[in-house]
Amino acid sequence: MRIHVLDHPLVAHKLSTLRDERTDSPTFRRLADELVTLLAYEATRDVRTDEVEITTPVAVTIGTRLSYPRPLVVPILRAGLGMLDGMTRLLPTAEVGFLGMIRNEETLEASTYATRMPDDLSGRQVYVLDPMLATGGTLVAAIRMLIERGADDVTAICLLAAPEGVAVMEKELAGLPVTVVTASVDDHLNEQGYIVPGLGDAGDRLYGTA
Ligand code: URA
Repeated sequence: MRIHVLDHPLVAHKLSTLRDERTDSPTFRRLADELVTLLAYEATRDVRTDEVEITTPVAVTIGTRLSYPRPLVVPILRAGLGMLDGMTRLLPTAEVGFLGMIRNEETLEASTYATRMPDDLSGRQVYVLDPMLATGGTLVAAIRMLIERGADDVTAICLLAAPEGVAVMEKELAGLPVTVVTASVDDHLNEQGYIVPGLGDAGDRLYGTA
């Protein structure tokens, strides 16, 4: 597993506003969307492409097109949905699957409650969207399932990560074709499973519910 922490002033600026407790839901959604697009730009650096011949008004030349099958984008419900528009803005022709996973707040274990995606992901590149890499349990379970279905290149895009979650992923997904792209690896995870300093509950801040 590889991890890529984006070091860019626009990423740092948007992330700081997301962290601020005074940022309201509409602003949070807009900034999360913009931040995802910046992360997605970096995350798709190795998206598969083919050469194609194209004719410009002036000459024939060789261009680049995304390969088939198109990548699959999988937001993890609920908070990953807030990242979908920012991702598909860059990859409008990607297929979208959905994965509903919930974390038991006492045991912090992840379990699946909904799956909507192709059974066979052989040879597919997959981008998983989950804003908070906290314990790593949800992402490990999600990525294992994608690889069991045949995905051969999985990139998780997370707004924020905790070092504890990164360590769990590195241990559980060692040797697998997995990359994590994030805006920051924060200080630690607290006893309630929140990333510190973090930004609070991403789902609540996106959707304004408790
Ligand atoms: N999920 C969140 O929404 N926030 C955290 O800090 C950790 C997990």
